[in-house]
Amino acid sequence: MRSLSGVKPTGGLHIGNYFGAIRQFVELQEKYECYYFIADYHTLNTHMDPALLTKTTWDIVADYLALGLDPERSTIFLQSMVPEVAELTFLLSNITPMGLLQRAHSYKDQIAKGLQPNHGLFTYPLLMASDILLYDSNVVPVGKDQKQHLEITRDIAMKFNQEYGEEVFTLPDPLILESVAVVPGTDGQKMSKSYGNTIEMFAPAKQLKKQIMSIVTDATSLEAPKDPDKCNVVALYKLFADKTQVAAMEANYRAGNYGYGHAKMELHRALLEYFGPMREKREALTQDRAFITQVLEEGSRRARATAIKKIRKVKKIMGLVGDVYGK
Ligand code: ADP
Ligand code: TRP
Repeated sequence: MRSLSGVKPTGGLHIGNYFGAIRQFVELQEKYECYYFIADYHTLNTHMDPALLTKTTWDIVADYLALGLDPERSTIFLQSMVPEVAELTFLLSNITPMGLLQRAHSYKDQIAKGLQPNHGLFTYPLLMASDILLYDSNVVPVGKDQKQHLEITRDIAMKFNQEYGEEVFTLPDPLILESVAVVPGTDGQKMSKSYGNTIEMFAPAKQLKKQIMSIVTDATSLEAPKDPDKCNVVALYKLFADKTQVAAMEANYRAGNYGYGHAKMELHRALLEYFGPMREKREALTQDRAFITQVLEEGSRRARATAIKKIRKVKKIMGLVGDVYGK
């Protein structure tokens, strides 16, 4: 059984990425054959600064390793180092109804904002389907925002299998942990790189503190009792504090004379404790570019070997005589 997932290198990883997705990537290494990649093709529709894209890509490999992905157990690769995914996207585009892509949230959101989406954004769910189907993935650990993309992937796989009369593509299941499906950001909406409301576990200590201090709270005075169930600081604290610690903070809220500033300081402390060892590992990895390069090269070579086998099979089934050289 295979687990596969990817993250776009659009900026520093945040605790929403970790609790919503990457922690599951790490746990699944125990039971599954794992493929985890950096989805760099997926950033191109936003015209990111090329130098920043390159830097963020390297950073995310280091993040993956520091957070617990093990290159001995997981194939860690770069999407664009397996160009067969672009070929599969083209092949599948011929059986993908326009309507299916027109219903995608990413496309509809742009239209609703009066923007003129480019073709890359329009076909983004199809590229994602190809990422998944190329590797016969059984489970795909993601946050809730990716649910629709998994449904689209299944639709495309079923359509292809029906049209060509064979179970060519495996139907993948999303793996969404409801308890952390949507980690809130500092402003209370979903934490996301694109909303500028993130808490980044690998940010320098000063910046991390600033992000935590910027969590929006209401105007209740320090002395007054507060409702812990309505506070974002508590919601975030629950992600990594143990039961006793959470109960203590909740009791402090209810008792009064405990300000949001106190809660934020405690959140900061707990966060540094939780991510401390990973921050140290991350720091060491930044000094070892050779190792990171090796991980990415070896992983991408392995992933590509799997991809080539699959694409040959797909082309053959479609009647394409693409295999006359290099068996
Ligand atoms: P962002 O929204 O910050 O750009 P990505 O789209 O790159 O994040 O997400 C990478 C992975 O992390 C996806 O599986 C996504 O569902 C998950 N994820 C992102 N933000 C959150 C969040 N706030 N809560 C839970 N999971 C999240
Ligand atoms: N679209 C995903 C995101 O925005 C990233 C992604 C690309 C992905 N291809 C994937 C996730 C394949 C899981 C499987 O977060």
